[in-house]
Amino acid sequence: MGNENKKKLVVLTGAGISAESGLKTFRDSDGLWEGYDVYEVASPRGFKANPALVLKFYNDRRKDVAKAQPNEAHKGLAALEEHFDVHIITQNIDDLHERAGSTKVTHLHGEIFKMRSVLNPNKTYPITGDINVGDLAPDVGQLRPFIVWFEEEVPMIELAAKIVRQADIFVVIGTSLQVYPAAGLVNYAPYQIPKYIIDKKIPFADSIYNPIMIEKSAGEGVRELRERIMKYEMWIMFFSCEL
Ligand code: APR
Repeated sequence: MGNENKKKLVVLTGAGISAESGLKTFRDSDGLWEGYDVYEVASPRGFKANPALVLKFYNDRRKDVAKAQPNEAHKGLAALEEHFDVHIITQNIDDLHERAGSTKVTHLHGEIFKMRSVLNPNKTYPITGDINVGDLAPDVGQLRPFIVWFEEEVPMIELAAKIVRQADIFVVIGTSLQVYPAAGLVNYAPYQIPKYIIDKKIPFADSIYNPIMIEKSAGEGVRELRERIMKYEMWIMFFSCEL
């Protein structure tokens, strides 16, 4: 079936989807991320204060991601492309959705395997090794990871909001919905469409009208999601044939 005939399934993912791949979430360990204060390693102020520490922090994260493998949840979403026009909007900087086979992935908070000059947020360069203090881009600016830090703009947010507005089915997986503007995307989903929330501890999401909660780990939750939406679609098809 061509994508034009498929329903648009839009999925907002957060750190929880990669937890079963061995990557740590942000808020499951007392505000520390791999032992660091999140603001110290993920803000322009932190980078200015201690660039070597911040670069080392992301060099380590890059090694972790390189070692990690996509889990059942990433793979389950990729497999849904057979039946749906699946759009993933992720807050994650890892590439596990892509490696699982998802073809439409929008990264809100940047990508660990890209870097950029401090002088230009738009031009990126691939990176698999380390970035060190003194490594310069062609524009002679210090290189830094292509990550959207706290207090920085989120350039992909408008595209993401447009995608969510066009959803036929909306799914939220493994995010605490505490960080804006990403968390605000749930408000762009059309009122009447089915909305699923999968999380091992369902986050507060008062503004989502009539959500279907699947309080499970991401892998198990995506398995249940697939069963439920396939049944739902068959049910819709059956009733539209009857009419
Ligand atoms: N399966 C499903 N959900 C899980 C699992 C799991 N195995 N493990 C943890 N979770 C859930 C937690 O219950 C929580 O709701 O994942 C969520 C993780 O929340 P956060 O750590 O706050 O991560 P996230 O919402 O992605 O953070 C958003 O904050 O620090 C910034 O830029 C960073 O993109 C990040 C943003």
